[in-house]
Amino acid sequence: MPETQLSADRLLLFGATGDLSRRMLLPSLCALDADGLLSTDLKIIGTARSDMSDIEFRNMAREALEQYLPDERRGGMADFLNRLSYQALDASTIEGFDTLARKVHEAGPSHTGTAIFLSTAPSLFGPTIAGLKHAGLTGDDVRMCLEKPLGTDLESSCVINDAVADAFPEDRIFRIDHYLGKETVQNLLALRFANILFEPIWNSNYIDHVQITVAETVGLEGRVAFYDDAGALRDMVQNHMLQLLALVAMEPPTSFDATAVRDEKVKVLRALRKVLASETVTGQYRAGAIQGLAVPGYDDELGKESDTETFTAIKAHVDNWRWKGVPFYLRTGKRLPERVTEIVVKFRDVPHSIFEDMGAKMLPNRLIIGIQPEENISLSLMAKVPGLGQDGVRLREVPLDIAMPDAFVGQHRRIAYERLLLDLIHGEQTLFVRRDEVEAQWQWVDAIRTAWDAADTKPQTYTAGSWGPSSAIALAERDGVTWHE
Ligand code: BG6
Repeated sequence: MPETQLSADRLLLFGATGDLSRRMLLPSLCALDADGLLSTDLKIIGTARSDMSDIEFRNMAREALEQYLPDERRGGMADFLNRLSYQALDASTIEGFDTLARKVHEAGPSHTGTAIFLSTAPSLFGPTIAGLKHAGLTGDDVRMCLEKPLGTDLESSCVINDAVADAFPEDRIFRIDHYLGKETVQNLLALRFANILFEPIWNSNYIDHVQITVAETVGLEGRVAFYDDAGALRDMVQNHMLQLLALVAMEPPTSFDATAVRDEKVKVLRALRKVLASETVTGQYRAGAIQGLAVPGYDDELGKESDTETFTAIKAHVDNWRWKGVPFYLRTGKRLPERVTEIVVKFRDVPHSIFEDMGAKMLPNRLIIGIQPEENISLSLMAKVPGLGQDGVRLREVPLDIAMPDAFVGQHRRIAYERLLLDLIHGEQTLFVRRDEVEAQWQWVDAIRTAWDAADTKPQTYTAGSWGPSSAIALAERDGVTWHE
């Protein structure tokens, strides 16, 4: 934490009765509290439309904690619940914000600042900021945290960013991409920049291509309207996958400082080459089975036909010196056979094989970074199969495997929102997305949508439980590349 930042002693949660709050935010805060990581002065004021007393809000929070927080992490739950209070608010009226301000003041004077977390529909961002401004809740010691979706394209994202910028300078705006809060995503930076091994070969001279897969087994999960408007490109590629790509491709920042890290990421995002429709594949799942369970098709879940993609694969390029000619294959989808997020870095062949005349087959090295559910790093190496070699030398690929949980037994592995909420309270911005990054992400994604429109691209169907349409396999195979499965 930079010394200049003070930890906020007020946290204002908008959307406090919503799904994210109940599943992630309240449990994460309670877990931080149980570990003594929240200052005793921190008071949490929840707000949402529903009329509720403080007691009713605490009861709702208790139920959420009992449902979503494992038993062993609920120590001190009663103390945590005592931090909570609640004020109903209709964000579309200014008067509501005066009442909210009174409630905030009831909690006593803040000495070290307020953090505000907006987990509401984006359509409420503008009115909420205006209301907060009117009620004097946007002072110099207030920081603003925004949860996605931050727009549906560059234009709408600029509208949101402008509305926020009207009340908060960029160094007090915290845009969440929860992938950045994941332990293994941060470990990518450690892997790249805390080891001498990789950096000298982390470029087009030694790397053939990179694959980034974010596969999910879930379908619509009740988010019908949201998802059908968004689709896989906007829901997953625009944010999480591009952040992963940026972390893989960025130049070494000079420090872990927020400006240094984000400056390097944005350079990568701006260097992304415009993608042609022919370099992409889109798909939509049909009824199938996942891990033995029958699941309905997207159109069945939706109750109508739709052109929204639930799968996309993209061949991307970063047009800079380091990555010249190295494709980044991205793939994400719902209702795929397993939940897996991983990055595969495939290296080039050795320039000359001394074993070739002896019949040995060689495979290029691969570095596989498992982000979830398995958190592990595996480097495939060629090794000699033991034997006297009377009929030639035999080589085989063997993995050098590190399972992170085994390497750090006894160390608590925290969920993304614990880390991000703590950073927000401390005012540490490195793991939050800066405006220029978001805008570069949208610009690239918007161009893909434009290309799809121009080519009249419609998603191809795939059976739930498969790895997407067969053309996704072809997209890689055209280049002699096989997706890692
Ligand atoms: C969200 C998307 O941002 O990320 C969801 O809106 C998706 O559609 C989720 O399921 C995936 O997050 P995680 O942490 O489960 O990989």
